[in-house]
Amino acid sequence: DTVEWSPEETGKSGYDHFMLKEIHEQPRSLRQCLRERVSELAGSVSLDVDVDPDGVQFVACGTSYHAALCGVHLFQQAGIPAQAFLASEYATSPPPVDGDLVVGVTQSGETADTLSALREAKRRGAETLAVTNVVGSSVSRECDQTLYIRAGPEIGVAATKTFSSQVVALALLVLSLTGASRHDIAALRDLPGNVQQVLDESDAEEIARAYEGSDAYFFIGRGLQFPVSLEGALKFKEISYEHAEGFAAGELKHGPLALVTENTPVFALVTGDGEQARKTIGNVKEVEARGAPVVAVTDGKSDVHRYADHVLDIPASDQRTAAILANVQLQLVSYHAAALLGRSIDKPRNLAKSVTVE
Ligand code: G6P
Repeated sequence: DTVEWSPEETGKSGYDHFMLKEIHEQPRSLRQCLRERVSELAGSVSLDVDVDPDGVQFVACGTSYHAALCGVHLFQQAGIPAQAFLASEYATSPPPVDGDLVVGVTQSGETADTLSALREAKRRGAETLAVTNVVGSSVSRECDQTLYIRAGPEIGVAATKTFSSQVVALALLVLSLTGASRHDIAALRDLPGNVQQVLDESDAEEIARAYEGSDAYFFIGRGLQFPVSLEGALKFKEISYEHAEGFAAGELKHGPLALVTENTPVFALVTGDGEQARKTIGNVKEVEARGAPVVAVTDGKSDVHRYADHVLDIPASDQRTAAILANVQLQLVSYHAAALLGRSIDKPRNLAKSVTVE
């Protein structure tokens, strides 16, 4: 299960940074992830993975943990119980594994914390699945089965295209277990084109410029957009070195609201027009009342723009793929914020692409 990437593809191909190149590669890397796995004709999803779990436990670190949190939503929405654990915490009180599949989500396949959590799960008799980008990585050798995300080489330390492909790979895993509707297949088919539209039309650079020099940057969302808020904040702090935090929108009032001022922009992820959007708009009004500028990342289905100082648009799409589209906007915001500050974007201080110590 390999992907052909030519040697030039490890160069920057005219982009200032690998990170920006990798953000722009997403339509293609997502197509690679879907290729031969989704049949529009048959209306089905099939993977080279043979599992039938009662429940799923994810173990992962960093950005991969955020993809795993998205996986939890996707599995639970499909009626399959799921939990995500920070790999470094898994062994401190490991849950019972009977009937559960333990899934290690790791781009590099070499993260020591994740490998060690998977070994603990194996010791306890669990069946294990690796979700990784790197063919022949340690995780793929140690797990019972492997699902490759096929994102191609990622050089920037901050993970971008691999997050999107991890989430799609997990969505494919769910659909291969539960069956896919025509709507599911159409949502996947449209995703690469929708990502391209975000890349072509994004106002992220203007937003980054407008809020340069703020005291802190907050990200809020609920449901699938909660892990995207965490990922948006992680990306922002990793490469800009500015203080950024992601919160579940509903938790703001239980503490973080104390941090909100007119100098802390709040990025609110609001997609759809249902109950979740309505409640998050309520939270937007709360931060607005404290004078914080609001940037809404939205598909335009709700009236959140009425309460926002700026809007980052994403195309209207399925709620699951909307999370990936919102995240692409946040990747671009982080990139431009870090570029304005002249940061070492591809190799941020103190961080490594792959962490092989616990
Ligand atoms: C490092 C990287 C992060 C990454 C994490 C997990 O900390 O800097 O970008 O998310 O490791 O890496 P993995 O290869 O397991 O996905």
